[in-house]
Amino acid sequence: MRTLIVLAHPDLAASRNNAALAAAARTEPGVTVHDLYAAYPDLRIDVAHEQRLLRAHDRIVLQFPFYWYSAPPLLKAWMDEVLAYGFAYGSSGTALRGKTLRVATTAGGAEHLYRPGGVNRFPVRDLLLPFDATAHLTGMRYAEPFVVHGVRELTDLELAEAGDRYRAVLRGEEVAAAEFRSTGPVPSATLAE
Ligand SMILES: Cc1cc2nc3c(=O)[nH]c(=O)nc-3n(C[C@H](O)[C@H](O)[C@H](O)COP(=O)(O)O)c2cc1C
Repeated sequence: MRTLIVLAHPDLAASRNNAALAAAARTEPGVTVHDLYAAYPDLRIDVAHEQRLLRAHDRIVLQFPFYWYSAPPLLKAWMDEVLAYGFAYGSSGTALRGKTLRVATTAGGAEHLYRPGGVNRFPVRDLLLPFDATAHLTGMRYAEPFVVHGVRELTDLELAEAGDRYRAVLRGEEVAAAEFRSTGPVPSATLAE
């Protein structure tokens, strides 16, 4: 299994969290990290090259910092241009069928803010539904998103643990969504309720 991480961070040099996750991912065998903003500083995407990369990998991970409940703009442009009719969808657009698509994202907001009644109203998983629909339309299996919440408050240890969880997910070991919280272990009293 070959995994392609399409990483979209507009300023990776200033990134703490996505840089750490990408560094962790790079240590996994069979994982290629493709830094979109580094590849296309002029924002002009080489569509044929991107399509070749997608064809050559079985698992596609879209990794990005969560910006305004979505992805940074180069990833949207990448989707618009690379997931073209005749390649990704349409009667002859079968290149992605049978592959797996997963989103990996870091959010400034803590998980409890992403609930009905919370300031962000919806779980990140729900806000990512356009990616789920994209996977469905293109014949890909949509894997559970990997979400790291509350990244501004993460300690170095918690960030390293998030990197370990990311590597486990990339190895194909699904991690329960509840484990993505940055708030530490759930107290046993809560578990007993
Ligand atoms: C333009 C912009 C928009 C953002 N929008 C959100 C948002 O909608 N939800 C959220 O939880 N955090 C939001 N954030 C915080 C980022 O998700 C956070 O800074 C990022 O995940 C940190 O990752 P990094 O260390 O790799 O840069 C936003 C940050 C910026 C700069």
